[in-house]
Formats: sequence, structure tokens, C-alpha cells
Amino acid sequence: MPVYIQFQNIVPLKKKEIQQIRKLLNNALSILGIPGKKFTIFFTNNELIKEYNRRFLRRDYPTNVIAFPQAEEREYLGDIIVSLEKAREEAEIYDLEFFSYVIALCFHGLLHLLGYDHERGVYSPWLMLKNEIKLTRELLADERVIKYLMGREYMPAKLAVNVDHVATVREARRSYYPDPVHAAVLAELGGADGIVVHLRLDRRHIKERDVRIIKEIIKTKLILEMAIDEDLLKFAKEVKPYQVTLVPERVEEITTEGGLELEGRVEEVRKAVEELNRAGIKVSLFLNPDEKALELAKRTGAQIVELHTGIYAEARTEEEKIRELERLERSAYLAKELGFIVHAGHGLNYENIGPVASIPQIEEFSIGHAIVARAVMVGMKEAVREMKNLLLLARG
Ligand code: PXP
Repeated sequence: MPVYIQFQNIVPLKKKEIQQIRKLLNNALSILGIPGKKFTIFFTNNELIKEYNRRFLRRDYPTNVIAFPQAEEREYLGDIIVSLEKAREEAEIYDLEFFSYVIALCFHGLLHLLGYDHERGVYSPWLMLKNEIKLTRELLADERVIKYLMGREYMPAKLAVNVDHVATVREARRSYYPDPVHAAVLAELGGADGIVVHLRLDRRHIKERDVRIIKEIIKTKLILEMAIDEDLLKFAKEVKPYQVTLVPERVEEITTEGGLELEGRVEEVRKAVEELNRAGIKVSLFLNPDEKALELAKRTGAQIVELHTGIYAEARTEEEKIRELERLERSAYLAKELGFIVHAGHGLNYENIGPVASIPQIEEFSIGHAIVARAVMVGMKEAVREMKNLLLLARG
């Protein structure tokens, strides 16, 4: 029997289910043209997979599946580790049948053992997903899992760097340095996929001059955060950033405190979205990760939603953190289903980025304070490079 199955620190599946997994994976080997190859699946819990993830992949959080290909042996492909606990949590979030989802994760692991990799380039993720869908379609015929996989394009996460707080340091002395323009260029050299600036109503850090010059010189894209305000809308249409992110703003706040409140404001927001779109600017809405907000957002015509990660970032206990992470996971999935491009941000740093960055539906992360704070110590380019590496590492 080429497929070995073991259980570590978890209640074993039923005998019939184990036989079914063996049969389906043997058939998968035949479909892939390598019948009779051997490998082992270890089913375990979140604690143990987290330990493997941390020790071997430097990712300090539980994941659903990890594969360790055997480099030299030709007959033995390697080991797959699947957390049944994580699979159960995700099956609930994505509304999938648990056992079908476990099998889909085994197919995913098997493809990794064969060298498929969704973390590299453009063609490689496409090819891996194509094979996952093929195996699931031919062997599992579970429409919900197939639909879930089809909506799951693998993509490397992008990093948009917010340089507001470089301007905060400048404004601490009402000086002309440090210049957020310089920071933007260095952030790009470190691997930033976009530059974010928040032109606040009180202009406490970023000024119009910063936005204009950054727009002129960066090679990636400019994302302008702003409140819905007549003068700011006029300014945005003149400068034409790639994207405007609409955020709520209170004059007394230290930083953005929460997502846009859309209840009773859909029409006002819809008009702003339309105005910006007409000027060729994409619009993102900064939202709390909840179903109601996403459904209202759909009525505004915005193309992108940025999920507010602040509550996750500020969670004090492990339980609270997990609860917020699940809320983000659920919202990211729903947002994608509703047709939005999904971004996330606020309060993310070098310690808490891993688990959120592993949510596959989130395309881009908007991070400012933590990167600028680290840049003070190690330089902007290095600070961005370190964060970008963490994002790429998380897409396991
Ligand atoms: N996203 C939005 C909408 C924000 O308003 C901010 C803060 O300006 C960020 C992301 C970045 O947050 P942080 O500075 O905590 O990384």
C-alpha cells in the first residue's frame, strides 16, 4: 500500500474514511502518471502543525497542510502533514464538507511533493491549481470544493507601504526633512508594490506637495487615502493616483479608528466612487471585517475593499486573536465572492503579519507605522525588504 497514514496527537479518522483516503490518493497517483509511488500523510492538530511550521518554515502559526518532499529517493515522495483541526475550522468558514476538504488538502500536499509550487512566479501557481481542480473533479466530484478551489487564485501577496510617518517626523520640527518622497523611492527599492499616503483633513503629516511629487516619481502605484470631502475629491481628480482609499476621519483621532460606516451613507459613498471612477481612479473602501459592511459596500460600486485589521492587531489574548483572524478569513472569502479585490491593513507589524498574510483571498497589505518605525533602526529599504519576505513566506 503506497500511501501510509498516521495520526499524531489527534483522534484518528474512522477506518472507512482512512480506506477512502488511501484509495483516492492511489487513484490520484495514477492520474498523475506515477502509480505505486509512496508517501506518508500525518494527520495532526493545530499545535503540532504550528510547531512544524515554525521549526522548518519559520512561520509561527498553525496552517492546514505542509509538505516535505524527499529530495533523493525516487520511490518515496515524502511526507504530508495535515491539521485536521485547522481543516475543520476552514471547512466551517468556507461552508465545505469536512471530509471532502481534508481530501482536497491531501491532493494539495501531494502536488507539493511532486514539485508544484504556488509561491513562485505566475505560471507555477496556475499549473498547481489546475492540477488540484483536475484531481478534485475526477476523484471527489464535490461541487462546493471545486467552486472553492476555482475561486482561489494563488498569488504572491503585495505590499503597499504607507510613508505618512516619515512626514510625521518632519512635522515634529516643521522642517523639510526627512522627506516622504525619499522614503517612497527607498521603499520601492526594498520591494514595495505601491506607496500609500493619507492626506488628512488637518494636513498633520502628508501635504499636497508630497502627494504630487510622489505621484510623479514612483514607478509602482500611488494610493491616496482620504476622507470623503469636496476639496479632497477635487484634489484627487487633479493628481489622479492609481487608487483612492476612502476612510472615515475624526479630527481628534491619533490614527484611523475603524472602517467606514456605510449604514445610511451608501448614496453619498456611491457618488464619490462614481466621481473618482469617472476620473480613471480605482476606489477602495476601508471597512470593518463584517458581512453587513461588505454587502452595503457592494451597492457603492467600489472595486476594492480594505479589511480593517486593527482589532486583530490589538487583540490581547490568543483567543481574541484567533476570533478576529477567523472574522478576517470569513470576510475576505465573502468579499472575494462578492467580486471585490481584497486588501487589508492597519496595525500590522513584523510579529502579527504571518497569520493574516496566509489568507489567500487578500491580495495586498497596507502597512505604515511598523515599517517606518523599523526603518529608523535599519533603513527604509531593509525594513520593506524584511516585511516583503514575511508576506511571501506566509503564502504556504
Ligand atoms: N490602512 C488604512 C486605511 C489606514 O488608514 C492606515 C493608517 O494610515 C493603514 C492602513 C496603515 O496602518 P499602520 O500605519 O498601522 O500600518
